[in-house]
Amino acid sequence: MDLGFKGQVALVTGAGSQIGFGREIALSLAREGCAAVGVTDINLDDAKLTCEAVKALGVKSIAVKADVTNKAEVEAMVKEMISNLGDIDILCNVAGAIMSNGPFEEQDPAVWTKEVALNLFSPMFVSAAVLPCMRKKGKGAIVNIGSGSSHMYIHGVGVYAQAKGALDVFTKQLATAEAKNRIRVNCVAPGPAPTNFIKAPDKQAVIEFLKKELPLGRATSAQDIANATLFFASDVSIDISGQVLHVSGASVM
Ligand SMILES: NC(=O)c1ccc[n+]([C@@H]2O[C@H](COP(=O)([O-])OP(=O)(O)OC[C@H]3O[C@@H](n4cnc5c(N)ncnc54)[C@H](O)[C@@H]3O)[C@@H](O)[C@H]2O)c1
Repeated sequence: MDLGFKGQVALVTGAGSQIGFGREIALSLAREGCAAVGVTDINLDDAKLTCEAVKALGVKSIAVKADVTNKAEVEAMVKEMISNLGDIDILCNVAGAIMSNGPFEEQDPAVWTKEVALNLFSPMFVSAAVLPCMRKKGKGAIVNIGSGSSHMYIHGVGVYAQAKGALDVFTKQLATAEAKNRIRVNCVAPGPAPTNFIKAPDKQAVIEFLKKELPLGRATSAQDIANATLFFASDVSIDISGQVLHVSGASVM
């Protein structure tokens, strides 16, 4: 199946983690024919590693440092991406993290503010910075990485799940607002997967645990998330916008 990525320019946030979803999405976009894949992360050294891996596939790339919770840094990063790679066709908002845990009365509200900034406001900042060039082209695809946690009711997850639930709403609102410009906005909602997101040092033990716990009997992989993201990023899903797709071993239906 031709995903129609030939000549397209993509931007992936949170692409630094070497076992994370962002890197796998960036590499998959490169493998499937994008002309350029820009990668950004708060950790520039890690983003550079992903950038080199994209370039090794013969695809143009640059790595730019940005804290995506900082609007000014986001605007400067997007400007640098566009001036080096060209107007952006595909945006994947991947950066995110869980920061607070346990009973909410015992959590620090200052951490909640950071958690909401990262998981809700940052995709809004990056989308706002990228939208003008997509509107100019009259076409674009934005894929937000949400979370199954906003659809599961696990004790102690708290503000992270609330922010990701709000990201689902943002996805639908932006999809509605931008439909007239043929800009599609969708969300991939992963279940637990053994990236750096899960702090346990023994990732193999996490995989074995997930195999036992998840209905499909397997641990969700970064490639699973990349596959769903590329579906929404490509013209294969040309008639689909405002959707949340769960990729979580049948743990959310
Ligand atoms: N892995 C899971 O179990 C899981 C489950 C559901 C949802 N998710 C979501 O998937 C997305 C990707 O997570 P992952 O699993 O690849 O985790 P990861 O920790 O491996 O990668 C996240 C990346 O985001 C970057 N980042 C964090 N804060 C940033 C900031 N302020 N500015 C710029 N970059 C920043 C990190 O440096 C890192 O490279 C996140 O949005 C996460 O919430 C993950």
